[in-house]
Amino acid sequence: MPLTPEPATADNITRAARHLRSGRLVAFPTETVYGLGADARNGAAVAQIFAAKGRPSFNPLIIHVADYETVQEWAEVSPIAKRLAKAFWPGGLTMVLNKRTNAKLSDLVSAGLPSIAVRVPSHPVALALLREAGFPVAAPSANRSGHVSATTAAHVADDLDTPALAMILDDGPSPLGIESTIIDARSDNVQLLRPGAVTREVLADVAGMEIEHASGPAKAAAPRSSPGQLESHYAPAKPVIMNVGKPVKGQALLAFGPMPQPHDGPSFNLSPSGDLIEAAANLFRGLRELDDADAETIAAMPIPLTGLGLAINDRLKRASAPRR
Ligand code: TXA
Ligand code: MG
Repeated sequence: MPLTPEPATADNITRAARHLRSGRLVAFPTETVYGLGADARNGAAVAQIFAAKGRPSFNPLIIHVADYETVQEWAEVSPIAKRLAKAFWPGGLTMVLNKRTNAKLSDLVSAGLPSIAVRVPSHPVALALLREAGFPVAAPSANRSGHVSATTAAHVADDLDTPALAMILDDGPSPLGIESTIIDARSDNVQLLRPGAVTREVLADVAGMEIEHASGPAKAAAPRSSPGQLESHYAPAKPVIMNVGKPVKGQALLAFGPMPQPHDGPSFNLSPSGDLIEAAANLFRGLRELDDADAETIAAMPIPLTGLGLAINDRLKRASAPRR
């Protein structure tokens, strides 16, 4: 029986923090997507995340904390990372930093890498939970591994059915709807590992430099790469075809902007007005809805490669990659 999500009241947040402390898992809202949290110091708790998601164990997790000061306890914060933290935390930016050798974190969290990925989320429920917990919380997106990220509590309940999951905190749809941007900020030469909620343009502006996109699917555990770059990822069950200008009758159409012609088949418009922020927020819900619709394939209309369009195209590219 899937868990019933519970409203994110103060009492429920307190209960959730207690569950985390006792080594169980809690799903919680963040401004990007829902996270599946565990106490990052507790190896057995973290291991349950991998089991619940069916995630390959080489894929390291993002550590969530309530404030920037705490990050300095476990990570070496480079000057550029400090500047970016001041500008983007709390918020949708994840930074890969060198882990301090004395960091009391389960090695499973970073899958044995000498680095860790950290983020201070801005969602009030996520922040309240992290403050109440008082320890770092490792949390991947709360979906089955390889599946579309969960942007509502109902998505989480649909995807994760495991006794290790003690609670799903519900606070409505994730406002941004797309995962955080991940950068490698260990040196001055900042690299984009995963496009996401914070656009490359805005990042480059604050960093005062071009941000290079570390390209190509990463080899597992390669030091400067993000295993989230596995080619087939964020995938619905149906095959996805990208950049479809003229959808065929019967295809499930993932539209963007005005419809080119009336479509004969199921459709979901990410943003009828062509707004990339709205489209990002709707992306995973749209993919899930079309996946459940009566059609063989999902045809995605072209989406511009500017601003959040980079992250949206990245997710669609993975969704359309050959499955393994
Ligand atoms: O918005 C988000 O980032 C959400 C919310 C819950 O915070 N989390 C999320 O986590 O998307 P997840 O596990 O689905 O994706 C985390 C990505 C993975 O692709 C992983 O490979 C990468 O972060 N990552 C984690 N630690 C890393 C490290 N030390 N070096 C490079 N990449 C790392
Ligand atoms: Mg994920």
